[in-house]
Amino acid sequence: MRILGIESSCDECAAAVVEDGRRVLSSVVATQIERHRQYDGVVPEIASRLHVEWIQDVVHKALADAGQKLPDLDGIAVTVKPGLAGSLLVGLSFAKALARALDKPLVGVNHILAHLYAPLLSENLEYPFIGLIVSGGHTLICRADGFDDITVLGTTIDDAVGEAFDKVAKHYGFGYPGGVAIDRLARSGDARACRFPVPNLYKGEHRYDVSYSGLKTAAIRQLDKFWNPDYPRTDQNIAAAFEKAAVDLLLSRLIRAIDDTGLRTVVAGGGVAANTYLRERLASRDDVRALFPPLALCGDNGAMIAGLGYRMLVRGDRDGPRLNVSPRVPSFRRLRSA
Ligand code: KG4
Ligand code: ZN
Repeated sequence: MRILGIESSCDECAAAVVEDGRRVLSSVVATQIERHRQYDGVVPEIASRLHVEWIQDVVHKALADAGQKLPDLDGIAVTVKPGLAGSLLVGLSFAKALARALDKPLVGVNHILAHLYAPLLSENLEYPFIGLIVSGGHTLICRADGFDDITVLGTTIDDAVGEAFDKVAKHYGFGYPGGVAIDRLARSGDARACRFPVPNLYKGEHRYDVSYSGLKTAAIRQLDKFWNPDYPRTDQNIAAAFEKAAVDLLLSRLIRAIDDTGLRTVVAGGGVAANTYLRERLASRDDVRALFPPLALCGDNGAMIAGLGYRMLVRGDRDGPRLNVSPRVPSFRRLRSA
């Protein structure tokens, strides 16, 4: 079965054709990064307007790259949540029109579950495993028991991890997107230059939660307080120290979740999963099998939507003309602990 996947939840306009939920025949990602750079962040109205302009060409190219004729498609999958409402609506309306005109089945896909599906496009992986979704909008440590069966173990109680990278980078003028700029600078910096405070360890229900607003404030406003005077105050050192603090916090909760559940396979996804330090730290552990999707599938893309959409369509899921978008994720089941 060949499924067309359409993704327009944020600032990537993407489409892909995937066969049987595994074989990526094409994947086109048109990023709007350059158009938002001057604002140091995604401007929702600009994002949706660009999706309207671009989506037809992006879908057309995905079909052409796959050598796929529209009438021979077996179904259409589209991101419907979570994301920017105006952006999601562009992809959904386009997908609905296509499905209606071609009389093909349509299914709405959850973007977070799709990020967790991305590594399954290239690996044979058994459930259950631990999922780590880290991006500009999401910070999630979960247990995945099936392609749409996840239990949230931990999340952020304030800012998303990527958001913290972006805000610190914006403050210091490191570049956009902030995570990419910090990653690049940090490679030639020394994290010992600054020892940021570690947030209090949460207990019980918050055992696996993280918090980034304190670290963000410390990095922006309280550098003097935590700086080691033996080191020069360079962009590289600030980036390295911040990156280490942000990633170590995430890793401490992740390792806790791995140890508590005994599940030693971790699947990471989302833009921050491209971070060099995070990847190195996880890869260096003998007790954890860490799977990162190829870099092209870490960020937002249509292939993960088509892949997950295939599973849903095979199960019999169908959405009709009244399908709508949800900017926020309806809460996943959350693990209750003592
Ligand atoms: O998944 P994504 O493309 O879009 C969202 O759903 O948010 O993730 C974008 C986020 C941004 O916050 C960006 O700064 C961050 O991922 N990011 C990184 C790296 N590459 C992208 N953060 C840290 N290190 C990176 N190499
Ligand atoms: Zn995403």
